[in-house]
Amino acid sequence: MTARNALVTGGTGGIGTAIVEKLAHLGHRVATNYRDEAKAKAWQAKMKDKGLDVAIVPGDVADFESAAAMVKAAETAVGPIGILVNNAGITRDGTFHKMNPKQWHDVIATNLDSCFNVTRHVIDGMRERKWGRIIQISSINGQKGQYGQANYAAAKAGMHGFTISLAQENAKFGITVNTVSPGYIGTDMVMAVPEEVRAKITAQIPTGRLGRPDEIAYAVAFFLPDEAAWITGANLSANGGHYMGW
Ligand code: CAA
Repeated sequence: MTARNALVTGGTGGIGTAIVEKLAHLGHRVATNYRDEAKAKAWQAKMKDKGLDVAIVPGDVADFESAAAMVKAAETAVGPIGILVNNAGITRDGTFHKMNPKQWHDVIATNLDSCFNVTRHVIDGMRERKWGRIIQISSINGQKGQYGQANYAAAKAGMHGFTISLAQENAKFGITVNTVSPGYIGTDMVMAVPEEVRAKITAQIPTGRLGRPDEIAYAVAFFLPDEAAWITGANLSANGGHYMGW
């Protein structure tokens, strides 16, 4: 595969790390953003120990100006971005009748506004160069909803609306835009769900287990090669059979 320059937001997290590693193993130059420099440097050193050179750049995806500086720094580090993975995301779970405005706005800003904030700064370059891959990491809960996640499900469903609109606008420019919707993956985010609630959720997964981050990275990689040029506006579920919408 041709080596490309990639930006993975939230690349130091559970699923993010697996995506960064996969892209780097495929030979792409990869950058990710951070808000906590010390933590990111320690993570970068771990990548280095695995033989992977990953650029880290400061940036808050929830803020448009910060995202602009982040993209600029990433392009300085690895070159013009050809692959963007909008992966950064948070949860602030709570039943809606108890949800406060901060829980709502923080999730919408980090999970959905971020797609605008970051993509807006890479799209012109991709259109000029006539090649691009933009992938949103959404969620099974954006497809089926989830008790306690009105904020998160709204943001994640919105991400796919963003995908299918951008896919139409940019198809003529060699840019594909797709969504990957992971199910429950064994990351810190899912492990933070109370154990008895998590056990009930896991019992509903036909494979009988949580997913692994590398199983999501594999789904992301599927969209990258030139052979995938015809696949745009798709929503690829990777959830162990937990939800089979079509
Ligand atoms: N269906 C029906 N009832 C449910 C329910 C469900 N799925 N989940 C909880 N309830 C019920 C409980 O049984 C309880 O009922 P009783 O009051 O009759 O006993 C009631 O709801 C509790 O409601 P509360 O408002 O008091 O809720 P709480 O403060 O105890 O906590 C919660 C609610 C925060 C939503 C908690 O249930 C929870 O953490 N749920 C998991 C949410 C979840 O799946 N998060 C995913 C995080 S990982 C992720 O997001 C990654 C990804 O993309 C998959």
